[in-house]
Amino acid sequence: MNNQEYGRILRDAPAEEPARQQYFMNQLKQLVEEKSRKTGRPLTACVQTFGCQMNAKDSEKLLGILERAGFQASESEQSDFVLYNTCTVRDNANQRVYGRLGYLHNLKNKNPGMIIALCGCMMQEPSVVEKIETSYRFVDLIFGTHNIFKLAELLFMQICEGHRVVDIWKGTDKIVEELPAQRKYPFKSGVNIMYGCNNFCSYCIVPYVRGRERSRDPEDIIKEVEALAADGVVEVMLLGQNVNSYGKTLAHPVSFASLLRRIAEVKGIERIRFMTSHPKDLSDELIGVMRDCPKICRHLHLPLQSGSSRILKLMNRVYDKEQYLALTEKIKAEIPDISLTTDIIVGFPGETEEDFEETMDVVRRVRYDSAFTFIYSKRTGTPAAAMADQVPEDVVKVRFDRLLKEVQKISAEVCTKDVGKTMTALAEGTDSHEPGMITGRLGNNIMVHFPGDASDIGKLIQVKLTESRGFYYMGVRLS
Ligand code: SAH
Ligand code: SF4
Ligand code: F3S
Repeated sequence: MNNQEYGRILRDAPAEEPARQQYFMNQLKQLVEEKSRKTGRPLTACVQTFGCQMNAKDSEKLLGILERAGFQASESEQSDFVLYNTCTVRDNANQRVYGRLGYLHNLKNKNPGMIIALCGCMMQEPSVVEKIETSYRFVDLIFGTHNIFKLAELLFMQICEGHRVVDIWKGTDKIVEELPAQRKYPFKSGVNIMYGCNNFCSYCIVPYVRGRERSRDPEDIIKEVEALAADGVVEVMLLGQNVNSYGKTLAHPVSFASLLRRIAEVKGIERIRFMTSHPKDLSDELIGVMRDCPKICRHLHLPLQSGSSRILKLMNRVYDKEQYLALTEKIKAEIPDISLTTDIIVGFPGETEEDFEETMDVVRRVRYDSAFTFIYSKRTGTPAAAMADQVPEDVVKVRFDRLLKEVQKISAEVCTKDVGKTMTALAEGTDSHEPGMITGRLGNNIMVHFPGDASDIGKLIQVKLTESRGFYYMGVRLS
């Protein structure tokens, strides 16, 4: 394409979204078709997720755009276009990306036509982008978390201009609706209900890289859920950094509980999950809706972070140990079959042996079904990074191992409690280790293995749990 033609295409682009991106998807498609005619094979694109469920959902949108633009999706990094959707919540997430980039560089040396792109949370940190620009010069395209909807436009520009394109936004107050998404599973899907976070927990980088809290309009959410149901989805996972504060900043405020009630009315949706609930504003209304609505899964992920009230205060979590314990007791009293899971950080600055024992105490009292345990990771720019008394690595490691052992012991005990019961499982896939068996997920998020084949995938099946194997059950099917 000559410069004149390129200039005309840019000038003719509609200013409004999503029309502008539809236009660039079509333009990109022409380039992709032309290239695949030349090479005599379809062009492939690989999107890899490094982060949380929200990151994974973004990857589905990115892949949706690429497929609409004519690329063939591939799991392999030996593709014509490779996009890493990065995470920066802990340093090991960043290190994984740098490690993989070395491998991508080798692939690009063998296939110089390959295009390498980076997006996601890590790219919202100026020091990271600077490092990539100077030390990873083979990266062709860099964008952030606020403009993922622009992928078609940015990639089109990169191909036409032939040099690196970098586009990072500091923030946004916009939500662009109605772009394609390529779902990973036909029968279940994540649904964003809000973006960003306003909580500024003192250790956490998410509010800096994901921007301020924005809730989606409830009508847009319902429309999306209805479309998913019509397309065969039976389970939705509502996504937000703190779903309990959903809707508070909308022009017509709506509570999360009332949104749940409306989603439960959508025909075809059999199961509703959500992630994540901040304990500080989990309402009685929400507990009531969960108790009364059988479609809402009996599972609550309620991050504790620390059991020490002193540390919780330094973390800016806005609840203390007693309030957290009282909340879990209230939830268990209202919904006796609820499964509670959590996130815990070990080694926050200033954490003493006594503080750590408080965390162990909460773990023993709540008896979580499972817990994600993390070693504190210093994130530049967060208040905790500047705190005195960073705990020595060897001390943290010993505490971490003690916590993990306790969590695993309790979780193996908790996972025996439903043996003998009949429960509903959503068949999610065939069991790669045992032919003739499939893997299903119970409402409480625990997995169960039972006889079946690929034709069962996506179905809700009645299963009698016959045996506990630590973190999962074995079962026989009754339907
Ligand atoms: N919004 C969610 C959490 C998102 S991040 C919530 O508030 O629950 C997922 C988890 O990563 C957090 O719950 C926390 O346990 C962990 N995490 C966040 N920042 C961290 C850090 N700097 N070091 C170690 N773990 C961290
Ligand atoms: Fe991070 Fe806290 Fe926001 Fe969760 S609620 S994303 S831990 S700042
Ligand atoms: Fe990571 Fe960003 Fe999620 S930092 S945990 S991918 S919001």
